[in-house]
Amino acid sequence: AWSAVQMGPADPILGVTEAFKADKDPRKINLGVGAYRDGNGKPYILTSVKKAEEIVDASGPDKEYLPITGLADFTKNAAILAYGADSTPLSQGSIAVTQSISGTGALRIGGAFLARHYPNAKIIYLPTPSWGNHTPIFRDSGLEVRGYRYFNKETVGLDFEGLKADLRAAPEQSIVLLHACAHNPTGIDPTHEQWKEISDIVAEKKLFPFFDMAYQGFATGSIPNDAFALRHFVAQGHQVALAQSFAKNMGLYGERVGAFSLTTSGPEEKARVDSQLKIVIRPMYSNPPLHGARIANTILSNEALYSEWEAEVKTMAERIISMREKLYNMLTHDLKTPGEWGHIKSQIGMFSFTGLTPAHTQALAERAHVYMTRDGRISMAGLNGGNIEHFATSVDAAVKG
Ligand code: LMR
Repeated sequence: AWSAVQMGPADPILGVTEAFKADKDPRKINLGVGAYRDGNGKPYILTSVKKAEEIVDASGPDKEYLPITGLADFTKNAAILAYGADSTPLSQGSIAVTQSISGTGALRIGGAFLARHYPNAKIIYLPTPSWGNHTPIFRDSGLEVRGYRYFNKETVGLDFEGLKADLRAAPEQSIVLLHACAHNPTGIDPTHEQWKEISDIVAEKKLFPFFDMAYQGFATGSIPNDAFALRHFVAQGHQVALAQSFAKNMGLYGERVGAFSLTTSGPEEKARVDSQLKIVIRPMYSNPPLHGARIANTILSNEALYSEWEAEVKTMAERIISMREKLYNMLTHDLKTPGEWGHIKSQIGMFSFTGLTPAHTQALAERAHVYMTRDGRISMAGLNGGNIEHFATSVDAAVKG
């Protein structure tokens, strides 16, 4: 039956992990997938997560099904984390929220809900470039995917003029995907002033903002700071969609913990939207997994654990920043690698968009056992005191050809 099925390409991000695993050289480094590693290159389980897990276990939990939209306390607390405890739609009871299978699942629920219920043209604009999975998620959800300019190759910064021109030229009421903070893959975010201008254009053109917030806490180390864009848009009266992930900020990757929410005009509209979210979700996966949501909720609802978690997010963010400094100094001062590397320090979040070309990335994999995505993005968290020198000298060799 499957003789006509063609071999598909490897996933641009997770395929890198497969190639890394197949390499047996002890010097190998995986800078592909965005997953935090500690100073010894090991996966890191947060202390707050371990403590929360103990609390959950001690409560003797059952393994019953969750409701279709997940653990209600968790989704309530996830919404508070994102929108802020003093958020108007939250206090009005007008945020429809559901648990999701991490950020990807949240985006997919959002895509499917919009494809079915958004009353206007079903076009979504993504930044160019964007996370590699955004296009297939929204295309498979049934939306038409288009791009708006985001990255300026010349300045290795934000193409703000291009971004504004493209959003102004988009058909009215198009959907626009915005990375709330720590833009993936470029590591370049708009400033607060620029976000205000974007919010004004979105209002003027009646665009529908859909925030992807996969890194709250990881950009600046501050939970409220990283929610600035989302909270500003909401304060300006926009109705928004929001995808949240707890993969990175709580290190709950494989537990698949996330949330999808929509702000609505009030409790009555929220009830109708909630009912339709359930109808979208039930045939997809019935109801979400329990364990990770219980862990996240225990952290979010316990003051002491919450403070401990906030401090741990900050520590992870700071280790990444220290690797940026170190890499910049090695390339610029120690090795005098040709090129301008200031962006390694100025970019924020988990990734650096290095400017290395596909030919460089191929040479690095083949000659130095260093793995990254073809677009030259590196996960800064994959670097540590033990491997950064091998990485920097390999980059230097690749650039010098
Ligand atoms: C990444 O961009 O590396 C992460 O968001 C992980 C993933 O699923 O691609």
